[in-house]
Amino acid sequence: MSAVCHNLSQFYYGPRVSMKISRHLKENVWTWKSGMAAQCFFPRMVGARFFNGMTTDPVVREEGDTPRVLITGSLGQLGTGLAKILRTKYGRDNIIMSDIIKAPKQIVESGPYIYADILDFKNLQEIIVTHHIDWLIHFSALLSAIGEHNVPLAMRVNIEGLHNVMELAKQYRLRIFVPSTIGAFGPDSPRNPTPDLCVQRPRTIYGVSKVHGELLGEYYQHKFGVDFRCLRFPGVISADTHPGGGTTDYAVQIFHDVIKQGKFQCYLRPNTRLPMMYIDDCLRSLIEVMEVPEEKLKLRTYNVAAISFTPEELVQALKKLIPEFHVSYHPDSRQDIADSWPEVFDDSNARNDWGWKPEYDIDRLCEVMVDKLQAKYPKK
Ligand SMILES: NC(=O)c1ccc[n+]([C@@H]2O[C@H](COP(=O)([O-])OP(=O)(O)OC[C@H]3O[C@@H](n4cnc5c(N)ncnc54)[C@H](O)[C@@H]3O)[C@@H](O)[C@H]2O)c1
Repeated sequence: MSAVCHNLSQFYYGPRVSMKISRHLKENVWTWKSGMAAQCFFPRMVGARFFNGMTTDPVVREEGDTPRVLITGSLGQLGTGLAKILRTKYGRDNIIMSDIIKAPKQIVESGPYIYADILDFKNLQEIIVTHHIDWLIHFSALLSAIGEHNVPLAMRVNIEGLHNVMELAKQYRLRIFVPSTIGAFGPDSPRNPTPDLCVQRPRTIYGVSKVHGELLGEYYQHKFGVDFRCLRFPGVISADTHPGGGTTDYAVQIFHDVIKQGKFQCYLRPNTRLPMMYIDDCLRSLIEVMEVPEEKLKLRTYNVAAISFTPEELVQALKKLIPEFHVSYHPDSRQDIADSWPEVFDDSNARNDWGWKPEYDIDRLCEVMVDKLQAKYPKK
């Protein structure tokens, strides 16, 4: 088959390009299967996707160069804050924010912001070439609770979208970061503590897509040498941006509701323990793992942990700062998801291999959230 393709491509593209196709065929069986058969028989039709990634030798960045970074899904809870930090570190114009929604004025004025649908491979290809991207930070996703309500869309965005970015990382030799989650574990995993390597049988489409991402990324790393890096984040707590429909969102909502209305209704039982992390710790862990030299990474997917608490413990910590407020508990379908997730994350590999260390405990987390939100919602 390889010889047939070689002959046909020689006919269509001439001997020099055809040589490259043949060489590439030997190295890239996956791409060959999906693209080459069609390429041979319908070369003009499918040329772009397959052909572009191999005709030019990609420019490989030197360690220490300032990277040019594309963030997908950058208008969500994590993306805006990350872009801000990376722009301070690497320069405003080196960080390209992207999403499918219209950005608020302050984002548009803060640096490059473009439309990028994770399902549109060709558009992503164009962005990577035009903006000389070196690192891709892939945030586009439907989170756990939202994903359960629209499984077909979650499969498209979380799985098909991931296929697109992995293929781009391979073709253009990008360093790629894909976040995973505590939701990548399930009821059969050890829950306290949950190590990096153990049984992963999640029960949500979100979790299934994240396990798929971890495995596919690691496969692309050992098969094609893609510089894939992945952290499993706990529930992320932030004051500046709103959470995107996850099971741990209560730990953000409580601060808004208590400060605005003096009361909070929790959708989890009071004793539901889950790993959590303040956003500054989360974004710092991401930047640290992106900057660490490859040889230090013994794994490609690491747990990172900071705090583990229950709603009741969070209420007690918050009462040290705001003594009077009312809480009620009305568990809904998110309780079942939480019951299948880790209670405490074991992140000893991240600590040992690249020096991960969180800075925010539950009291410091409450102080910073209350400070920020009291300034946002001044007392009437
Ligand atoms: N926030 C957390 O607590 C948490 C915890 C663990 C892992 N993560 C992971 O981190 C990443 C970012 O999380 P987040 O909280 O910022 O998510 P979010 O839901 O707040 O934002 C996701 C973004 O993806 C965008 N998006 C949706 N469909 C898209 C498409 N077709 N093309 C391009 N963009 C699209 C949305 O517009 C949104 O802005 C996700 O992969 C998530 O799974 C988040």
